[in-house]
Amino acid sequence: MKVFITGGTTGLGWSVAKEYLNEGHDVAICGRDLGKIEDNALTKYEKLKAYKVDVTNREQIISAVNEFSNGKLDLMLACAGRSVGSKTKTPNFEASRDVININVIGVLNTFEAALGNMIQNKSGHLAAIASVAGLVGLPGASSYSASKAAVLKLCESYTLDLKHVNIDVTCIAPGFVDTPLTRKNDHGMPWLMEADVAAKKIKNALDKKKVLFIFPWQMKTLMYFLDRMPRWMYRMFMQMPFANYSK
Ligand SMILES: NC(=O)c1ccc[n+]([C@@H]2O[C@H](COP(=O)([O-])OP(=O)(O)OC[C@H]3O[C@@H](n4cnc5c(N)ncnc54)[C@H](OP(=O)(O)O)[C@@H]3O)[C@@H](O)[C@H]2O)c1
Repeated sequence: MKVFITGGTTGLGWSVAKEYLNEGHDVAICGRDLGKIEDNALTKYEKLKAYKVDVTNREQIISAVNEFSNGKLDLMLACAGRSVGSKTKTPNFEASRDVININVIGVLNTFEAALGNMIQNKSGHLAAIASVAGLVGLPGASSYSASKAAVLKLCESYTLDLKHVNIDVTCIAPGFVDTPLTRKNDHGMPWLMEADVAAKKIKNALDKKKVLFIFPWQMKTLMYFLDRMPRWMYRMFMQMPFANYSK
């Protein structure tokens, strides 16, 4: 199988990449800084390729995907993303624009790059890492929640739209995973999971071609209730000190 993972230079993307490499698949990862790749990874895994790509740059991602796929791509996982960093009540608009650009436009560019091949071949699998943060509007994380909600809905629509060309679509919505992204958080992270454990769960959901995979189950249950609460009740709950991290 040929698998392209954006943002696979570190964190969750790299852990998922190793799952596929260990099964003998051809894997490409990309990021803006290839220096983040684990030492010796490119010599240890001969089926690993790395591309210096900024996913907000449409030409860069299209060119890398075309070079790697050479006409056939089985799975595209859009994993590249960023969070807002510190959670503040007053929005940081500069960071917010970057978050939307990477997390939403980056996913669009990535899917466009993959679909060229896949539609022609009438086969393939598109997947993206959203977040449980996209299920509700979280305090202090407005642009991150909005960006991940966009990814969830983008995938939901693509699941319907791409069925006629035999393309599967999976959206993954993780809770907290221990990666460089979450290590910047200065608040509690309930049910924090190791990246390698999360990667196994993600790979399993991809193998099963699940349409939507939300994990861990404790976070999924909490989000189920938060999403379905009357909104006045949600606002009251999220104003409580233990639930509201924004400063
Ligand atoms: N960790 C969690 O708890 C968690 C929970 C839910 C969802 N997620 C999502 O999972 C994905 C991976 O997150 P992570 O925790 O693994 O974060 P991470 O450790 O910070 O890794 C982010 C990856 O994305 C790449 N990236 C960022 N901006 C990029 C750009 N413009 N172009 C290309 N690559 C870019 C980074 O590489 P470069 O910096 O070299 O570009 C890096 O490889 C993100 O979409 C994140 O929102 C994470």
